[in-house]
Amino acid sequence: MELKTNPSASAHPIEDFMPLNGTDYLELYVSNARQAAYYYKTAFGFKSLAYAGLETGLRERESYVIVQDKIRLVLTSPLQSGTDIGRHIDQHGDGVKVTALWVDDATRAYKEAMKRGATSYMEPTTEEDADGKVVRSGIYSYGEVVHIFVERKDYKGVFLPGYQAWNPRYESEPVGLKFVDHMVGNVELGRMNYWVDFYRDVMGFKQIMSFDDKDISTDFTALMSKVMSNNNGRIKFPINEPAPGKKKSQVDEYLEFYEGEGVQHIAVATDNIIDTVTKLRDRGVEFLRVPQTYYDQVLDRVGKIDEDIAPLAELGILVDRDDEGYLLQIFTKPVNPRPTMFFEIIQRKGATSFGKGNFKALFEAIEREQELRGTL
Ligand code: FE2
Repeated sequence: MELKTNPSASAHPIEDFMPLNGTDYLELYVSNARQAAYYYKTAFGFKSLAYAGLETGLRERESYVIVQDKIRLVLTSPLQSGTDIGRHIDQHGDGVKVTALWVDDATRAYKEAMKRGATSYMEPTTEEDADGKVVRSGIYSYGEVVHIFVERKDYKGVFLPGYQAWNPRYESEPVGLKFVDHMVGNVELGRMNYWVDFYRDVMGFKQIMSFDDKDISTDFTALMSKVMSNNNGRIKFPINEPAPGKKKSQVDEYLEFYEGEGVQHIAVATDNIIDTVTKLRDRGVEFLRVPQTYYDQVLDRVGKIDEDIAPLAELGILVDRDDEGYLLQIFTKPVNPRPTMFFEIIQRKGATSFGKGNFKALFEAIEREQELRGTL
């Protein structure tokens, strides 16, 4: 057997300096958290979990926490003028501020990131109440997005210290959303590789895929994307940058309306996309549509699938295949007044990729929407 001298090629994998258990929560800064919570409960099937605001002693902000299976969303609004939350909303509209990552040791995660060049957002901080303690720390990512490391092994409360259980009379039925599959960032032209390097060097992620303008281009728009994943694959962050096209690309449109870099879409997994999308559509969630001709050729492209094609075509669900299996996916229209953030619903049947075979049909659908907005 050949002697290996390169430690990275040894049989013993290098220790993961940034072990992440999964996504802990996503916090959105929104202009009306109370109404946003109602929207995400009613339309997307989240349940009420926790609340913090005037009644819990806060004076500057109000936060509602809603949950569906492993997905926790925190919706936060300011309670007065002149706050950083209000300034964030004024600049960006509603959007994702925090991607919180669940760790066993938030102090260690912070130190590992900082010594590799991260910018500090929040030093390790212990918060306590009658249910125990939580340690959180945070670093900046692209734009104004931050990653907060959450260590909650000594906590049995409903969410975080400072929050109280929120049990309103009104709840809606879940729609089958299970966990965050991936979360995509849009960055400025020329900055994709900078953030790829950041996730590799500072967070210990690996690049698992890349797309360039030859994979992703239509007559009008193009984009480039690289997908970064943590060691156990539970955290996946594709990073997009615009590529020159004949007209304004969807990434350019996002950057213009968000007034900076930020989270483009949150992909959430389901075990039954037909059932989930039927329920979402019935509750008023609007999806991007591809022409029905997409379904004339789809089975030639992806081969045999378990689902009937008719309900997929009726709902507008897209199909793609890679070496490991296939996936079903669909994208909502933007959920805010500005054409910025949207959601993806995804069901994986073995496939570990992101639907490259659908990009062309999808981007043409996005361009039709841009055309209506006059932003193409
Ligand atoms: Fe996606």
